[in-house]
Formats: sequence, structure tokens, C-alpha cells
Amino acid sequence: MDIKLNINNVLHFTSKNEILSFTDDIKNHHKALLEKTGEGNDFLGWVDLPSQIEKELITSIERDAKTIKEKAEIFVVIGIGGSYLGARAIIEALSHNFSPLLEKRTNPLILYAGQNIGEDYLSNLLEILNNKDYAITVISKSGTTTEPAIAFRVLKNHLEKRYGKQEAKSRIIAITDKSKGALKKLAIDEGYKTYIVPDDVGGRYSVLTPVGLLPIAVAGFDIRKLLEGAALMQKVNLQTSSIEKNPMAMYAAVRNALYRNGKQVEILVNYQPNLYYFTEWWKQLYGESEGKEGKGILPAGVNFTTDLHSMGQYIQDGQRFLFETVLSVENAGKKLEVPFDNENLDGLNYIAGKRMHKVNNMAELGTILAHIDGGVPNIGIKIPKVTEMYLGQLIYFFEMACALSGYILGVNPFNQPSVEAYKKNMFALLGKPGYEKETEEINRLL
Ligand code: PA5
Repeated sequence: MDIKLNINNVLHFTSKNEILSFTDDIKNHHKALLEKTGEGNDFLGWVDLPSQIEKELITSIERDAKTIKEKAEIFVVIGIGGSYLGARAIIEALSHNFSPLLEKRTNPLILYAGQNIGEDYLSNLLEILNNKDYAITVISKSGTTTEPAIAFRVLKNHLEKRYGKQEAKSRIIAITDKSKGALKKLAIDEGYKTYIVPDDVGGRYSVLTPVGLLPIAVAGFDIRKLLEGAALMQKVNLQTSSIEKNPMAMYAAVRNALYRNGKQVEILVNYQPNLYYFTEWWKQLYGESEGKEGKGILPAGVNFTTDLHSMGQYIQDGQRFLFETVLSVENAGKKLEVPFDNENLDGLNYIAGKRMHKVNNMAELGTILAHIDGGVPNIGIKIPKVTEMYLGQLIYFFEMACALSGYILGVNPFNQPSVEAYKKNMFALLGKPGYEKETEEINRLL
């Protein structure tokens, strides 16, 4: 296992005994997850997904990715929440930071739609697509989510006008439920190539299904290595539920110990701009899994050192209800040193010849020490490098820890009942058939 978990910097805020007091709880929850006997047990397909994914499925995804690469400069991923964040997290983590501006591309540029209802956003996307060869994947497990459904209607229309119905059909892949939902029906009627989101894998746990794997493969990244990394972490988890030996159990126990000590907000910190969407994925995973029944640690995210100049003040000195989890990367992918300057007008010669990454590391260490001084407990999670292998390990690490943590909290980490609340109001306001009573009620309220 290549992920290193460091909990030394939480021990001023909670004790080892307090952390280990979750031992029996975790033992039971770990067993319930592996044996699929706990709450939400019909959504535990992700637990053994890395080791059990069918080889033919991987081959088929790679084959389709190759076809798309041959005919498309842009691949639009339509989806929202768990149907897009996992793919985006991995693609952005592994991509060139200025990917859209690269002159020579070997793989299609991945763009996203259906994750908002912004009229300008989609109009701007269409403007770009007018002059590019492109293909689409539309991803929705339920097949009924409004945001991606609208985006798909618009893009399908555009694609058909651009290429004609027959060619357009060969540029669309639908990823949805095996039998139900409007998208499934549409895909069958139109004859699109489809992939299935397994029944027992919920959206935010679906990055290692075609939901994440197809876009990641089209972007040119190695999905086998990603799965290999996840399988490695699955193996670690299978060995023991011991808090001291299983880092997923330890992370779950520490965050709950801190929560019980009044630390209600967890901030995931990164020092690499390309991990921005990894944090977004993590926020969704923990937010939707734990935030229910008036309980749950609020997951937040910052990108340092950028946000040290915005949120830094609050974290250092604001209300003391937070803790940090710092996602560190040991090695940079590229090499750049701070140059020596004869004039030294900016006074930076003291770091001349140093790698930028080293300077970044010192900013990280300095910040951790300052934040601990300021009363912010710190959990450290370190990976050697941003690669498919380590990202795969991180995915499984966070998924398993989230499930354990949700069970410790006493919630079902695999549902998201409250997401329906806004949908009901939106449908009532838009006059969706079947919502007549709600429309009447909401109009009276307004
Ligand atoms: O994690 C989840 O289950 C959600 O975030 C869903 O992924 C999101 O609501 C999109 O749902 P669907 O894939 O059904 O369109």
C-alpha cells in the first residue's frame, strides 16, 4: 500500500484511547460491509468491484474509447453528481493543467454538460462544438435526472443536425440502468450503444464502473492501473478491521473522534491545482453519504496555497469547529527550479535552485504547523505521485472509510433522500405533469 496516513497531529485534540474506542463498532461495521448485511446493503456493489470487474467490460470500454478517439476532438460527458464527478476528478488530476490550450492532442478534450442548467454555459459549449468533431456520453443511473436530460436533448439535437441521424447515433453512448428510466427507453428506441450502471452501485460510488471508466479511458488514461490501485486497497481492507492496521478504519475512527469533540467541519486540503475536482468528488462522497438526520461532518475543500490568501485567515483564527485533512503528493510530475537572478531585486535568491515542489512542500509543512498552533487538528494522507495507481488507491480508501464512518454516525451512507426536496419544488414550479397539487401549494406559498 502506498498511501500513508498520519494521525500524529490530531493527538492534541483527541486521544488514542478515544480513537480506539471505536474498535468494536468498526469491527461490526466492517463485517456488515463485507458480508453486505448492514443498512443500505443493496448498494454495496462497489465493495468488491475492483477485484471483480469483468475483463470483457474493460476491453469493451477500451475499444469504444479508441473508436471515439479516432472520430472526435471533443468528448462531452453529460451527467451530474456521482454521474460525473468521479470521472472529472481523475481526468483533471492526470491532465495537463492547460489541456484545452495544448496544440497537439493525442486524445479528445473532455468537456462536461448536464451538471448545471446555465443557459450561457450550454450556449457557449454549442458555440465550441459548432467547429469541432465531437461525441457524447450521457450518464444517468436513474435515467430521469432533469439537468443531464435537458443537456442531452440539446446536444442530441445539435449532433443530429451536424452529422445526420445515423452518424449521430454512432457518436452517442448512454450509461444508465439496465432496465428502467427514460434514458434507457430512449437509448433502446434510438439504438445507442449502452453501458450499464450496476444496480448495487450508487452514483457517488460509481467511478470504477463505466460511469467513470469510459470518460477516463477516452481522455487517454490507464483504467487498468486505476482498477489495480483500487484492488490493492480493497486487499488491504480485507485483511483486517483493526484501527491500527487498516488506514480506512483509522481515518473513519479519527474523524468521528474529532466530530465528538465538536469538530463539525472537515476541510480537505490540496496543494496541487489539478486535485481541485478530486476534492469536489470527495465532498460529494462524504456530504451525500453522511449529511442526514441532523448529523454529519460538513465536508469542505480548499486549494492551497491559493486559498491561504482567502480562507487561510478563517482556518487559522476563526471559529474552532473544524479539522483539516491534507492530501499531500510526495513528488511532482515535472521539474522546475526557481532561477538565480543576478540583481535579486525580489530577494528570492535564497530559494534559487530549489524545486518549486520543495517550496510548495515547505508551504504545506509551515501551514500545518501554524494551523495546529491555531487549534486545527490535522490528518495527513500522502501519496507518492499523482498517477492512476495511487488515485485508484485513494478512491477505494475514501469510499470504504466513508461507509465505515457513516455507519459509526448511525446513518445509511448509501441513500440521499433529501436531494428530492429541491426537485419536488422545481417540478411544481415548472408545472410538470403529475405535480398539479404541489404546483397549487407552492403558488399559494409564493
Ligand atoms: O450519488 C448519487 O447517487 C447522486 O449524486 C447521483 O449520482 C446524481 O443525483 C445523479 O443521478 P443520476 O445518475 O440518476 O442522474
